[in-house]
Amino acid sequence: MAEALRVGIAGLGTVGASVARVLRDKAAELTRQCGRDIVVSAVSARDPKRDRGVDLNAAKWFDDPVKMAQAAEIDVFVELIGGDEGPAFAAVKTALEAGRHVVTANKALLAKHGVALAEIAEKKGVLLNYEAAVAGGIPVIKTMREAMAGNSVTRVFGILNGTCNYILTRMEAEGISFDACLKDAQRLGYAEADPTFDIEGHDTAHKLSILTSLAFGTKIAANDIYMEGISNITQADIRAAGDLGYRIKLLGVAQRTESGIEQRVHPTMVPTASVIAQVHGVINAVAIETDILGELLLSGPGAGGNATASAVIGDIADIAKSRPGFQHGPVFGRPARELKPYKKAQMRSHAGGYFIRLTVHDRIGVFAAIAKRMADNDISLESIVQHAISGEAAAQKTVILVTHETTEAAVRKAVDGITKDGHLTDKPQVIRIERAG
Ligand SMILES: NC(=O)c1ccc[n+]([C@@H]2O[C@H](COP(=O)([O-])OP(=O)(O)OC[C@H]3O[C@@H](n4cnc5c(N)ncnc54)[C@H](OP(=O)(O)O)[C@@H]3O)[C@@H](O)[C@H]2O)c1
Repeated sequence: MAEALRVGIAGLGTVGASVARVLRDKAAELTRQCGRDIVVSAVSARDPKRDRGVDLNAAKWFDDPVKMAQAAEIDVFVELIGGDEGPAFAAVKTALEAGRHVVTANKALLAKHGVALAEIAEKKGVLLNYEAAVAGGIPVIKTMREAMAGNSVTRVFGILNGTCNYILTRMEAEGISFDACLKDAQRLGYAEADPTFDIEGHDTAHKLSILTSLAFGTKIAANDIYMEGISNITQADIRAAGDLGYRIKLLGVAQRTESGIEQRVHPTMVPTASVIAQVHGVINAVAIETDILGELLLSGPGAGGNATASAVIGDIADIAKSRPGFQHGPVFGRPARELKPYKKAQMRSHAGGYFIRLTVHDRIGVFAAIAKRMADNDISLESIVQHAISGEAAAQKTVILVTHETTEAAVRKAVDGITKDGHLTDKPQVIRIERAG
């Protein structure tokens, strides 16, 4: 049998401790699958005394993950610390430069330094595997990088943040407010104490930027993503969406268009009957549309210790099965040096259907004025409905419009016009509609 693969794990938190536990519990099975043993030979975290729920005494302890990254005791450096700079970046870079394979679950790191790190890995002939960085346990990287050779991707989109999907699912199912759902999600451990990163779309954007690079062979451009979070979604939107045959999801979407590549993260209406609309709670899903295959949808657990460990261990097993001297495939599907600059499509030219919810004064002429603004901007309407508002707000009405395909620029101009007309009593709500099978 080949020599054992020696793994150093940096970070022994939710994911790191799970990886160590599964490597121990499934050691015999992994040896059968990989043709060699996989042993945890080194570990690093901040607190050497903390109980990790798994016996790590046989592994050498390192206070400094950067030292571990180049230690003679390891063949693979597994980075499970997190963060786009600091020890995670320093240690991954050091490991690659020292000719060690790297496995990481760190989307923030890849979104910022992925291409530079891939260049080092490819130069050194080592693997940089990152399955767990996008959609946790769902094997989307492998699917796109390996199983879809020859396919040209036209669009990739998905539910990439479990916290947001959990909140939107409960808002719809229980009719409770965004704030109440968020508090509950925090109490149950589905949302961080500071939820901004998840709720405002940053986490989805990091994952999307990696998928975009794989899909279109472009350099990662995480800072160039149009982003809107879910904190403005109200019960009125969820109910109106339901009445119209839609469900609201926070989607990350990357799409090739005539003017470049669109990368956007925003609340989106998808048809209630579509497959992605059936993805509830903390579950993630990724849809990939290609010229040969058509549309593929993968769904499953996007976070949590075991689900994420599953993807990390799959990456480690691939390294165990690889042989020295074997030419590894490029990290982002094409050689890092050949990744093209990302040509951003302007959000103003985004084409699609729109849901617009307006709260207006209940007076004569308002409805006609809204319809005129739409017509002036060549927006054709699929439906326009008004509802009286009862109780204290009886002097107001809700007007809900659904447009046929139009552009973002036209919708913004029309809504600005309606706002200037002075008919609105509240901020207008605009939600994009996404085509989904
Ligand atoms: N949690 C998930 O469901 C999930 C899903 C997908 C991807 N990920 C990614 O996986 C990575 C780890 O996430 P996590 O949830 O496991 O984080 P976590 O529970 O906060 O664990 C982080 C670990 O890093 C260690 N650490 C922090 N600074 C360190 C340093 N300077 N040197 C050595 N170790 C250091 C901590 O040590 P101490 O324990 O001693 O404090 C801890 O063990 C992140 O990149 C995250 O984005 C997580």
